Amino acid sequence: MISTARHHAKIPEFEQLLSAGNVAFNLVHAAYALGYAATWTTRWYALDTEAAEMLGAHYGERFIGFISIGTPTAVVEDRPRPALETIVSAWQDAAR
Ligand SMILES: Cc1cc2nc3c(=O)[nH]c(=O)nc-3n(C[C@H](O)[C@H](O)[C@H](O)COP(=O)(O)O)c2cc1C
Repeated sequence: MISTARHHAKIPEFEQLLSAGNVAFNLVHAAYALGYAATWTTRWYALDTEAAEMLGAHYGERFIGFISIGTPTAVVEDRPRPALETIVSAWQDAAR
């Protein structure tokens, strides 16, 4: 997936980039909703200007990443997660 964020009078480029990221995220969700499995990877060739150009990104465009979609063949086991209270703070606590 390629983002073509560029100067716009009302929409900052970072919002355009975030929007492209959300398209990718929704694509992953849609694949799972249809019974497929999906992964989103960036990889070095998305970040390297010359390689990205070879893969179709034009000047000023950037790869959001690659969405691979396929038929799941195994149940993916979750990895250990941090306790939420160690990484999440409520808005009213933000000034502490
Ligand atoms: C924007 C984005 C880019 C990613 N790029 C890579 C990548 O280049 N290589 C890779 O092995 N995994 C990549 N991943 C997968 C993540 O490393 C991770 O395995 C995945 O998001 C699942 O998260 P979890 O390990 O917290 O469950 C990417 C994920 C996201 C959301």
